Amino acid sequence: MSIVKAKDLVYEYERRDEEGNVESIVRAIDGVQLDVAPGDFIAILGHNGSGKSTLAKHLNALLVPTEGTVWVDGMDTSDESHLLDVRQRAGMVFQNPDNQIIASIVEEDVGFGPENIGMPTEEIWRRVEESLKAVGMYEYRQHSPNRLSGGQKQRIAIAGIMAMRPKCIVLDEPTAMLDPVGRKEVLQTVRKLNREENVTVILITHYMDEVIEADRIFVMDYGKIVMQGKPREIFSHVEELEQLRLDVPQVTKLAYELKKAGMPIRDTILNVDEFVEEMVWQMKGETA
Ligand SMILES: Nc1ncnc2c1ncn2[C@@H]1O[C@H](COP(=O)(O)OP(=O)(O)O)[C@@H](O)[C@H]1O
Ligand SMILES: [Mg+2]
Repeated sequence: MSIVKAKDLVYEYERRDEEGNVESIVRAIDGVQLDVAPGDFIAILGHNGSGKSTLAKHLNALLVPTEGTVWVDGMDTSDESHLLDVRQRAGMVFQNPDNQIIASIVEEDVGFGPENIGMPTEEIWRRVEESLKAVGMYEYRQHSPNRLSGGQKQRIAIAGIMAMRPKCIVLDEPTAMLDPVGRKEVLQTVRKLNREENVTVILITHYMDEVIEADRIFVMDYGKIVMQGKPREIFSHVEELEQLRLDVPQVTKLAYELKKAGMPIRDTILNVDEFVEEMVWQMKGETA
């Protein structure tokens, strides 16, 4: 069974004038099919305005479809009686860590979700401890969140979601406001949760190096999914990606240019290690 599924999804934003008449319509999602298996690490790419955030908001019923259907763990998100369950199954992490922190002590912030749904105190503390350990922030439990770095704040936000024991985490450009150290911390945390806790991850980002380890990549353009596949398949389409105003990882581009210039490089290169291996192979070939 799928953890997240969208069928023929269309979403239109309506702009209304003062009398409440529809002034204009923006079709932000235009016929999207999505099927995510439990435990998958999915990445969604696309330039600004391609519909990524609008799609993400459908995955925990912040938006409901104009047309088509979205299911989270088998529940139709447009059925209001499922709202709390849907939000518990699929937690959202947003771009700005400062907007996601509510309490003035880390552990209270992480316990906010469980407390809000009336969980017994003992269970709340158990989950807070477990979640803070899972994101590597347990030693900061008594700290004030506003003294933490951006990367640490995002990990606290992720812990707050983990405390609800979601099956799926949707992260909408969670590293866009972070420095390189913070980006790395957050990415490592997300990967660890995916591997060790088997949480399904849907990561929206425009950093190409963050998606090369994804199980599958979806590329969006004008509200449609225009490419999908494993990272190596996606990044073999250097020119198509450039037409979609997306980059490939720098080392992938370098290998691609060398190949275009006549060097017999074998496959799509995704990281520095593969590039080095390929260069060594080439050199040995020349001296043999
Ligand atoms: N609240 C809104 N009202 C009207 N149009 C919107 C709103 N939010 C987004 N849009 C439009 O919907 C399209 C998709 O936006 P969005 O989902 O934010 O894309 P992305 O996250 O890929 O940058 C864009 O054309 C954007 O201008
Ligand atoms: Mg967005």
